[in-house]
Amino acid sequence: MEWFESWFDTPYYHLLYSNRDYTEAENFITKLTADLQLPPQSKIIDLACGKGRHSVFLNKLGYDVLGLDLSRQSIESDKQFENQTLIFEVHDMRNPIDADPMDAVFNLFTSFGYFDKENDDKKVFQSVYNALKPGGYFVLDYLNEEFVRNTLVPETTITRGDIDFKILKKSKADTSSKTSVLKLMVSRFISLKK
Ligand SMILES: C[S@@+](CC[C@H](N)C(=O)[O-])C[C@H]1O[C@@H](n2cnc3c(N)ncnc32)[C@H](O)[C@@H]1O
Repeated sequence: MEWFESWFDTPYYHLLYSNRDYTEAENFITKLTADLQLPPQSKIIDLACGKGRHSVFLNKLGYDVLGLDLSRQSIESDKQFENQTLIFEVHDMRNPIDADPMDAVFNLFTSFGYFDKENDDKKVFQSVYNALKPGGYFVLDYLNEEFVRNTLVPETTITRGDIDFKILKKSKADTSSKTSVLKLMVSRFISLKK
């Protein structure tokens, strides 16, 4: 089993990132939708939606949302929020998406970059590209490489309740080739700096 198939189902992930809650998602989506100006009822995929915090708020704003995630556990929990315009399904982002053409695909909170093989990354971009209407948006909420390199703290400890999480970080190879693949393949690319 790959690490990303189990880690996001653990209570430790949810505890460590407990600050990434519905309020944080609402604030982020409020800014993003103000920027994109998508008309009401636009079709949006929340790719790697997790517990659905962005999907639910997007739907409240009047968008038609499909939340997709690899985690069966998360999708089972998300199903409680479903309605006619908010659907959740188990889906591996490397696979083609079987849905109507989309106005936008969002991949939020660094839900990309987990795969060892570059070809798997390409499969994700191809799948997103195929899912979008011409002129549709792909929003990839990813690390600001320059900022991360310049501010990287190799070792920190985050305490949540009784648990100390020791966080180790290091920078690896240059990602510029992946960035250019992305620019070529998606209809429109928005870089959101954290
Ligand atoms: C950092 S979490 C972010 C979740 C959500 N976007 C949020 O902001 O709360 C990353 C998510 O990616 C999902 N994921 C990991 N690998 C995936 C894959 N191959 N296909 C689809 N989802 C995947 C995980 O299950 C997890 O829910």
